[in-house]
Amino acid sequence: MSRRKFIAGNWKMNNTNEEAIKLVSDLLEKVKNVTDKDIIVAPTFTTLSDVNKVLKSTNIKLAAQNMYFASSGAFTGQISTDMLKSVGCEYVILGHSECRTIFLETDELINKKVKAAIEAGLKPILCIGETLEEREKGITNDIVNNQTKKGYDGLSEEMAKNVILAYEPVWAIGTGKTATPQDADTVHKTIRQTLESIYSKNFAENTIIIYGGSMNENNADDLLNMPNIDGGLIGGAALVAEKFARIINYIAK
Ligand code: 13P
Repeated sequence: MSRRKFIAGNWKMNNTNEEAIKLVSDLLEKVKNVTDKDIIVAPTFTTLSDVNKVLKSTNIKLAAQNMYFASSGAFTGQISTDMLKSVGCEYVILGHSECRTIFLETDELINKKVKAAIEAGLKPILCIGETLEEREKGITNDIVNNQTKKGYDGLSEEMAKNVILAYEPVWAIGTGKTATPQDADTVHKTIRQTLESIYSKNFAENTIIIYGGSMNENNADDLLNMPNIDGGLIGGAALVAEKFARIINYIAK
């Protein structure tokens, strides 16, 4: 089974418009000839439109960092699927642990967003992952399996094919601590089994599952060489064009 590698940069709340244009232009210069991987950047809402102008007709695709499930109306501060599509987004990150923990997004809300994204033709990058406390209690598998089931709740197999899963152990995000390649691969394998139990073996084998949490230019090769790790969702290291390009051009064994 060969799944295409999927490398996404989550810029989080970083970069003014000028900085975003510079970063994406520098990145484009370094990876413009890469055709064998999917490369995605997720800038802030305010910079999507101008970043999209730089990326038009290139090999880098655009993601938003969140959205709301309603199509329009009195939802102050929220962004709809049509708004994202109108500025060139093909993907949207949903259920990031920062949205779950800081902004109290629930599995139910995230599931509504996943459905709305797919119905609108956007591909969700659905984030799941356990906290340090949960890992220490030995309940990592229960947590990620539960988040997976709730995230996919009510999705037909045809709809679910649009989802990219991102396993991001919360204790590894922005901390410099990475899951070992073996540990991460084991969790990815468990998630694949859960997907098989919901849908089918074929579905599970074709689903892209990426890893996030302190992935950088030094540890990416080992993580990306694991059989169940299909790519990365990168925070800090995606803010430096050289580092992100190095991860994209990881050395396959
Ligand atoms: P870091 O790479 O900074 O740990 O962030 C990971 C992340 O949360 C990506 O969504």
